[in-house]
Amino acid sequence: MPVALETRGRVAVLTLDRPDRLNALSPDVLEDLVARLDEVEGDEGVGAVVLTGAGDKAFSAGADVSLVREASPIEARAFAGRGHATADRIEALPKPVVAAVNGYALGGGCELALACDVRVASDRAQIGLPEVTLGIFPGWGGTQRMPRLIGPGRAKDLILTGRRVGAEEALAIGLVERVHPHGELLDRAVELAAEIAAKPAWALAAAKAMINRAGDGDQAGNLARELDLFALAFATEDQREGMAAFFEKRAPNFRGR
Ligand code: COA
Repeated sequence: MPVALETRGRVAVLTLDRPDRLNALSPDVLEDLVARLDEVEGDEGVGAVVLTGAGDKAFSAGADVSLVREASPIEARAFAGRGHATADRIEALPKPVVAAVNGYALGGGCELALACDVRVASDRAQIGLPEVTLGIFPGWGGTQRMPRLIGPGRAKDLILTGRRVGAEEALAIGLVERVHPHGELLDRAVELAAEIAAKPAWALAAAKAMINRAGDGDQAGNLARELDLFALAFATEDQREGMAAFFEKRAPNFRGR
């Protein structure tokens, strides 16, 4: 399987598993990743996901260039369409996804990390969108998600030069949210995902969906939707439990209902 799935408590760890090619993304890998995301969405025992890469060097070195080198525009569009669909699937998943960036996250690999909710990086991470060095430009959502995350000026600095940044610079510009020593990365990422997964599932899904809409140009519509969803939170058992636990000075026991 090009994408491995392992569960640790309430956290599903998905691993892009083609280490000899630095986890380069082929249509098969993307299809398998979407199938795994379908699986974890349907599993009530999973509250959050960690996405990482196999081996010691890479999260993913991006689209498998050998598959697109001779592509026609129609073939290139079809492959990029799968890249889009995969990133969109991560972004729309009603469960939070933490990217554990364990090395190179380049091109499509970076674009998948950008679609995740939080990025934690190894101190050896190298992140970038080097597509212009190949005569193309980012086509799996990078031109939209990168500026949304770090601002248009910084995104142009990275995309127009194609340069990679190390973990320290990535943290400073907001391209990743946390950095950990390489050997601890996966444990720290799973810890973060477990902390999130312990929270009420409906509230997490609603918060994620609303934050994803931020800045899409429809502030009035989004604020109205926030009000409606906020009201709906009071239809959940977890709201009753969370507030009861607060007044009873005990830890809440959320049940995802
Ligand atoms: N597509 C296909 N194969 C890739 C790949 C990619 N995106 N990235 C790496 N590989 C392959 C290499 O061709 C190499 O194969 P080989 O052993 O048959 O020669 C193998 O993975 C290992 O990579 P290598 O380049 O030898 O490792 P390195 O440590 O010297 O360099 C990188 C690592 C990430 C800097 C370099 O592989 C690279 O620049 N990759 C392409 C990144 C890129 O442009 N991605 C965007 C694509 S649109």
